[in-house]
Amino acid sequence: GRVGVLYGGTSAEREISLQTGAAVLDALRQSGVDAVGIDIGADTIAQLQATPMDVAFIALHGPGGEDGRIQGVLEYMGIPYTGSDVSASALAMDKLRSKQLWAGIGLSTPEFAVVNADSDWDQVLKNLGGDAIVKPAHEGSSIGMARVQSGAELAQAYRDAAHYDGSVLVERLITGSEYTVAILDGEALPPIKLETDHRFYDYDAKYLADDTRYLCPCGLDAEREQGLKALALQAFNSLGCRGWGRVDVMADHLGNFYLLEVNTVPGMTSHSLVPMAAQAAGLSFAELVVRIVRACQT
Ligand code: DAL
Ligand code: MG
Repeated sequence: GRVGVLYGGTSAEREISLQTGAAVLDALRQSGVDAVGIDIGADTIAQLQATPMDVAFIALHGPGGEDGRIQGVLEYMGIPYTGSDVSASALAMDKLRSKQLWAGIGLSTPEFAVVNADSDWDQVLKNLGGDAIVKPAHEGSSIGMARVQSGAELAQAYRDAAHYDGSVLVERLITGSEYTVAILDGEALPPIKLETDHRFYDYDAKYLADDTRYLCPCGLDAEREQGLKALALQAFNSLGCRGWGRVDVMADHLGNFYLLEVNTVPGMTSHSLVPMAAQAAGLSFAELVVRIVRACQT
């Protein structure tokens, strides 16, 4: 059948989605699949009606494409699609509610506070150990995020984050190591360790810097690596996610893991993390893309 690759969109991660979409489209065509790309704009339903397809590959990042909205449209139109369903997508896009759910079932996630314009910045920061990360609740690629070490920095970072989202959280900074675990069709792929010299793994470190280091194998001993994979899978399943995704995790110096978030449409550029993990598991980029499409048809 024909695969429609939905990419671009109107979120702040549009530029990344253009790259994801182009790479996915290219991989499908290389694999002999009949594939057509659609840059999703304001008139989504008319665009989908104008291009018949048997399956949609959702290559959209951020609100609109990764938060259940396009998934809902596809459900109404009766078009099967890759990845998580409406409710899991909405939950995973919401960092605050993901963390509340994990805390509720005993999975650890960094301590946090929800802030608003009236917050007592010095007190909030003190409660979180004096070093924290400010995040809009529904963004990706570190857009709108900042690391803060004073009340004044927190106040400024709040204003910047509030520009993207009405819901802003502040999270205790976990000093230690950062890992990411790709999930494909019910299994965790080999974890990757991320190392950056930036103040945190920000947008520049993700997409622009050439000095970000990616380690796979990630350097954990076999037992701890297994623990990390199991935690990531548990986090993914607890939100009701399916098909594929990527779970971001921190580890402190004692080796305790803390869940940051689940991405239900992770980046799929040629230098992205899920393709890197797939490679380590013996899957080429094209094989990975075909597996993601197959996972949604079962
Ligand atoms: N939000 C970006 C695309 C990622 O998680 O890879
Ligand atoms: Mg994300």
